[in-house]
Amino acid sequence: MARRKKIYEGKAKILYEGPEPGTFVQYFKDDATAYNAEKRDVIEGKGVLNNRLSEFFMLGLNHIGVPTHFIKRINMREQLIRSAEIIPLEVIVRNYAAGSMAKRLGLEEGTALPRPIVEFCYKDDALGDPLVSEEHIIAFGWASQQDMDDMIALALRVNDFMSGLMYGVGIKLVDFKIEIGRVWEGDYQRLIVADEISPDSCRLWDIKTGQKLDKDVFRRDLGNLTDAYTEVARRLGVMPANATQMTKPTLIN
Ligand code: TMP
Repeated sequence: MARRKKIYEGKAKILYEGPEPGTFVQYFKDDATAYNAEKRDVIEGKGVLNNRLSEFFMLGLNHIGVPTHFIKRINMREQLIRSAEIIPLEVIVRNYAAGSMAKRLGLEEGTALPRPIVEFCYKDDALGDPLVSEEHIIAFGWASQQDMDDMIALALRVNDFMSGLMYGVGIKLVDFKIEIGRVWEGDYQRLIVADEISPDSCRLWDIKTGQKLDKDVFRRDLGNLTDAYTEVARRLGVMPANATQMTKPTLIN
């Protein structure tokens, strides 16, 4: 088979030209980076887990009518996705204070927020993805007022879906980041969830013990990252330890 044309290589994924116009193949690497790539490593198996987990979350979102770029998984590391024009923002939803918000506002990590808070960061590695306001976003033309309303609604629907899913398996969704893209249907544009949803882009804490099951394990040197992601996958019934059969979600009492 002819080698696919590489479109873009990011820190954790590679995008290749897809088999049909309007599609890409998204390849999940094992590379892990943190603190704007100052800390980096290769974590064997991470790409396989994130491919499976992102498939699981995006398929679920598609089923409840939240549009995503996901079409189908191709193999252990690749999925077919719809091409979209990515809005240059990281859309973050927070349910509990953690990470940069805890630091910025002097809040203790784990403090419950009065309601889910949506934040936007401008995607620019050289600037360290700075937090921006709606004013910046509209003034600089990164998104319109209508896009802002649609992005917030989309992000909150993803939050409800993901929080419920995680709660069912004994995990607290502390916060997460999504990227949103535009697709055109005739003259109309629609916003869809793009990129990935995985423990790389969420904070996931065990409800009972508070154990971290996300990329903070790598960022903060808390143990084995693959073990943490495998535990999330196992609880969701996405990929059992032996990876040969699918199981049902495990209800945690
Ligand atoms: P933060 O507390 O570091 O701002 O991160 C908030 C959430 O966004 C957390 O779940 C991790 C995720 N995130 C990414 O996925 N990519 C990033 O580049 C950053 C800064 C955060």
